[in-house]
Amino acid sequence: MGGETVLCISGASGAVYGIRVLEELVKAGRRVRLVVTPSGRLTLRHECGTTPEDLAEAHGVVLDDADDVAARSASGSARIDAVVICPCSGTTIGKLAAGISDNLVTRSGIVAMKEGRHLIIVPRETPLATVHLENLAKLSGWGVTVLPAMPGFYNHPTSVEDMVDFVVARILDRLDVDHNLGRRWSGDEL
Ligand SMILES: Cc1cc2nc3c(=O)[nH]c(=O)nc-3n(C[C@H](O)[C@H](O)[C@H](O)COP(=O)(O)O)c2cc1C
Repeated sequence: MGGETVLCISGASGAVYGIRVLEELVKAGRRVRLVVTPSGRLTLRHECGTTPEDLAEAHGVVLDDADDVAARSASGSARIDAVVICPCSGTTIGKLAAGISDNLVTRSGIVAMKEGRHLIIVPRETPLATVHLENLAKLSGWGVTVLPAMPGFYNHPTSVEDMVDFVVARILDRLDVDHNLGRRWSGDEL
């Protein structure tokens, strides 16, 4: 640890998951590089009323252009600890599974795979087509953490925020980032 975390927001619904991951990473003192695909820009605006530029400025993080495959996040020699694609669209999943790195999100993901960096993808689609399932199985088999945006209900969520944070907490756990999101299961609940 000690390097940067690349946080990518692609054009699946659930841009708020990406925003909450960004907030928690910054709160935990992680250095973040943000990348948003053109479709991610649309969902950010439509669902959350914000832009990548405003997000980056508000949280003091670097925003890289999704077209800039020469950015640091795309480099195998850069000190990058982890790449998180949250949310991750079926398009981006398909490209990763096919080894296509045509933008900074897919390039960062493929570089993470080739360099053995932690790559977490957060798919959001329902129902899932066989092509999604087969691509996800491939990626999982190659060591990618597939962490679907599927909130649990055993903590009795009372708000959308609770449900979002359930998923965000699982992402942070995988990144070894301390947080106070939701109660952990103690084993005495039932
Ligand atoms: C409002 C909106 C919601 C979308 N939701 C999803 C979704 O939940 N999952 C998904 O895989 N694609 C979704 N899409 C489609 C993707 O944005 C589209 O496939 C795009 O090519 C993804 O490109 P990207 O992976 O480069 O961001 C949505 C598109 C729009 C406009």
